[in-house]
Amino acid sequence: MKIIKAIRGTKDIYGEESEKFTYVSKIAQEIFETYGYSYIKTPIFEDTELFKRGIGEGTDVVEKEMYTFLDKGERSITLRPENTASIVRAYLENGIYAKEDISRFYYNGSMFRYERPQAGRQREFNQIGVEVLGESSPILDAEVIAMSYDFLSKLGISDLEVKINSVGCNESRENYRNTLLNYLEPQKENLCEDCRNRIDKNPLRVLDCKNDKCKEIVKNAPSIIDSLDKDEKEHYENVKKYLNLFNISYIEDSRLVRGLDYYSSTVYEIVTNKLGAQGAVLGGGRYDSLLKQLGDKDIPAVGFASGVERIMMLLDDFQKSNPFIYIAWIGENVKEEAIKISQILRNIGLKTCIEYNERGMKSHMKKANKLGVKYCIIIGEDEVSKNTIILKDFENRTQEELSFTTALEILKDSRFL
Ligand code: HAM
Repeated sequence: MKIIKAIRGTKDIYGEESEKFTYVSKIAQEIFETYGYSYIKTPIFEDTELFKRGIGEGTDVVEKEMYTFLDKGERSITLRPENTASIVRAYLENGIYAKEDISRFYYNGSMFRYERPQAGRQREFNQIGVEVLGESSPILDAEVIAMSYDFLSKLGISDLEVKINSVGCNESRENYRNTLLNYLEPQKENLCEDCRNRIDKNPLRVLDCKNDKCKEIVKNAPSIIDSLDKDEKEHYENVKKYLNLFNISYIEDSRLVRGLDYYSSTVYEIVTNKLGAQGAVLGGGRYDSLLKQLGDKDIPAVGFASGVERIMMLLDDFQKSNPFIYIAWIGENVKEEAIKISQILRNIGLKTCIEYNERGMKSHMKKANKLGVKYCIIIGEDEVSKNTIILKDFENRTQEELSFTTALEILKDSRFL
């Protein structure tokens, strides 16, 4: 029979990879909660219109990458390609703005983009991200950037670069668009085919094209910073000032424009050179006009999202945590005692596995070895009658017969070693 395979661009996460996944999620939760964020979960699919209006019709995501279908009620549904638009929808729909001055959310879940799969790029991938709504201070921009850097650092990821820029609001971006077009038009023929198309629809995207010829051309392109108005420039200067206060080193990159249309001021990415072409580990920025666009509300907002699979690829020194104890029992009459012991150990938080079937000693030891446990508890009828157990230390290759209480003390003390 033909085995059914996972869809191209999707991945099963199990074993060591799933441990990495839960570890990354746990650190994110710990850090974000210390900054006052709370978890939000929105649906995986939404009305297609939300993403068209939110992300922008001219973007690659909306134009080429969305998983859009009609449901049985003939509604146009899209699997979320990102979560910012959904959070804004939830915030507006649930009237959260009327309940609190500032809302800080974090999320963790699957996103879907029909891209060409390669290392670090999937069609279903996971994002961990945050959105803060209701505050326009540049302190928040810097704090969000600092928190995201803190998150990656806590995971032990080094050699990261924080790139920042400001793309300004619609008006200054429109001015910049014209300036850029004046610069690009005379060189149009030398741009790659994608960029020749981008010139008409979204010329700013030419700035982050990966093609060498295009890169060479945009090297001398005018800077978007020069098109910002006075307030935007001041905001950007303040973000940099506060980043220094938060001790975050950054690189200013006036070619950083991001692929989603909703940004209105600060944008940033945290990149690495360890992931080949997919160097962006995390990206985000301020999107002060998105709430106007989706719900006619003048509420400022800022956020970021990181690709969990990309983060996982950077966890070089990750150690898989094996079960700590394996319980080997010899003799049918001892089985129940073994089960009781396993529950006592689990109740005090020790990661314990028990064998379910009758086995000989050799077979038990083989199993314990394969599991990579630190300790094995061995009990037979003899030990039960004496109220003892045999504690075998797999790392130090020692074993001794002990009262259960003494063994318990040893196990408790050595769990953090
Ligand atoms: P984004 O830059 O499109 O931003 O995605 C954020 C991160 O998701 C990327 O830096 C990357 O690590 C990961 N990512 C994106 N596409 C893929 C893929 N196909 N496979 C694997 N990983 C991927 C956003 O999505 C914005 N919503 C971020 C944001 C939040 N801005 C403001 N608030």
